[in-house]
Amino acid sequence: MMSSPDVGGYFDARVRRYDSAYESFDSDGHALRARLDAVLRRAGSGPGDALDAGMGPGRLAAELERLGWTVSGVDASLEMVSVARKRLPGSAQRFTHGRIESLPFPDESFDLVTATGVLEYSSVASALAELARVTRPGGRLIVSYPNAGSICGIWKSRAWYPAVRRVKSVTGRAGAHRPDGAGAIAAERVVRMLEGAGIAVETFDYVSFLALPAPLDTMFPAVSARAGERLERRGAHARRLGTQIVFDGVKDATAVGHGAGS
Ligand SMILES: C[S@@+](CC[C@H](N)C(=O)[O-])C[C@H]1O[C@@H](n2cnc3c(N)ncnc32)[C@H](O)[C@@H]1O
Repeated sequence: MMSSPDVGGYFDARVRRYDSAYESFDSDGHALRARLDAVLRRAGSGPGDALDAGMGPGRLAAELERLGWTVSGVDASLEMVSVARKRLPGSAQRFTHGRIESLPFPDESFDLVTATGVLEYSSVASALAELARVTRPGGRLIVSYPNAGSICGIWKSRAWYPAVRRVKSVTGRAGAHRPDGAGAIAAERVVRMLEGAGIAVETFDYVSFLALPAPLDTMFPAVSARAGERLERRGAHARRLGTQIVFDGVKDATAVGHGAGS
């Protein structure tokens, strides 16, 4: 469960595409918007100090700021930091380059800490210990992790992506590899890891529903987005159709964090 040392470089090259995906009417756009909405519902309104770790282009940070939070951010990609600074010019000095496994903030600095779409690229136990360390006692931690039980996710990671990589390497079009991430982790294990870090988990919910497997989702982007939205509203078969899980917990004011068990 190690994070790739050059994860920042990988995301440097993808910042525009990733940022614009939030506005695209396809499965990726739907998945990003659904996760963002789920996190915002749980975060609620400020005032207070918030940290978005691995904030990418700052989409969530901007929404948190609108909700009255004073937002800081940290990301391993210099390009992502630069785009986030431009998106939130008033908070630019609070967005820094760094890694989630060694956050550049003192203990108990934040009332709200979020990390979406990032733990899967990190050393998860170290990252959770760090997120818990910088959260104030009684403060809220909201994180996402890919749903290891999602049918479309399993198909994509075990069959579709390896097949695409093989074709690209045979035809000499191999691009940069996705960083080796932490791999599949069952929801219950993520809960145990959070609790090991001193976070009392209140809810975990399946979001970012996807019903059309690759490549059908990219062949019929609007159909895929509409189907995802409809399923999301109904919440049917969440454990199989949700591609992401959002975990929400509170730092136990009495517990002594002792690092997330792996
Ligand atoms: C998929 S993007 C998610 C961005 C944002 N949190 C969101 O939800 O839109 C992953 C982000 O995490 C950052 N990242 C990946 N591994 C990281 C690490 N170990 N420490 C800090 N940032 C990391 C990447 O540079 C990238 O900006």
